[in-house]
Amino acid sequence: MSSELEKLKRKCEEEVKNSPNAESFNGIRIKYLGRKGELTKILRSLKDLPFEERKKIGQQANILKKELEDLISGKEKELSTSNFQFPTSNFDITKPGKKISRGHFHPLTKIDEEVRQIFTSMNFSVVEGPEAETEFYNFDALNIPSNHPARDVWDTLWIKNPKSEILNPKQISKLKFQNSKLLLRAHTSPMQIRYMENHNPPFQIIVPGRVFRYEATDASHEINFYQVEGLMVGPAVTLANFKFVVEEFFQRFFGRQVEFRYKPSYFPFVEPGLEVEVKLGGKWLEVMGAGMVHRKVFDAVRYNPGQVQGFAFGMGLDRLAMLKYNVPDIRLFYSGDLRFIKQF
Ligand code: PHE
Repeated sequence: MSSELEKLKRKCEEEVKNSPNAESFNGIRIKYLGRKGELTKILRSLKDLPFEERKKIGQQANILKKELEDLISGKEKELSTSNFQFPTSNFDITKPGKKISRGHFHPLTKIDEEVRQIFTSMNFSVVEGPEAETEFYNFDALNIPSNHPARDVWDTLWIKNPKSEILNPKQISKLKFQNSKLLLRAHTSPMQIRYMENHNPPFQIIVPGRVFRYEATDASHEINFYQVEGLMVGPAVTLANFKFVVEEFFQRFFGRQVEFRYKPSYFPFVEPGLEVEVKLGGKWLEVMGAGMVHRKVFDAVRYNPGQVQGFAFGMGLDRLAMLKYNVPDIRLFYSGDLRFIKQF
């Protein structure tokens, strides 16, 4: 090939190689193969050459033309399909890459998962129940009759719906039928009743779930939040068993030795009732309500209180998350603010 064609070929190849993107190929095509392009110029100048030489160089130039055409279109196609940006002169490979943000679990989901794990490792089963409950399960069966002052403790959101349809009046007690007015459960304790109605002791369960309260919100109150209920019933389950289970749980949950304090308290569905406090950062904090299952509760589910006994507890999942992650305001969990969520 004539040295001039050779040079042209190399120049064009170089330019194609350094082309930053698919768009720049049109320019190259015009520059070399266009009507006034460099190769076209050579082809035009052939007419001044002697016949033999004209024939030889003409052939070579036509082959080269085809080659360059293929080279340009090939590269062009490659770049436009791979969407790859060729490094331009100011491309800096030492710059840190762009951070790709990935989705992850909400802090409350993480705490929920952790609580389930610790309890299942202690042989507890996890069960869940309905968020729309009846008055009977949320109150009456838990020894909180309509006229009981303790009902005020659970500021309740009632549902404007006369009766729950799940209940068949022929199969259930009069009270259960009468008090089947729907509400949003104010605690997870109604699942104690639902579970015991369908299972026989011995058993140990936890019930994580969302609960609702008709309350003004502030840094420590939300209209909905999460609780974890615990219930263990058997022929000889005692407060000592309860102590072991909760202390084991909190020890593992906080990942270190914590101090405990038990205070007498009152809930209509336990006797005796107590509150568990843990010492964190030098301060005593209430983390759980609990007690031995009241015999009226066993009556409601037709267990024989002379044959079984057990403990129950309830704790706020949000509260645990706030303590573990040092979150000052419960409302942050429900704010949907990514600046908050992304920290976990
Ligand atoms: N249900 C109680 C509450 O919401 C907590 C609790 C559960 C207390 C079980 C004792 C036993 O405050």
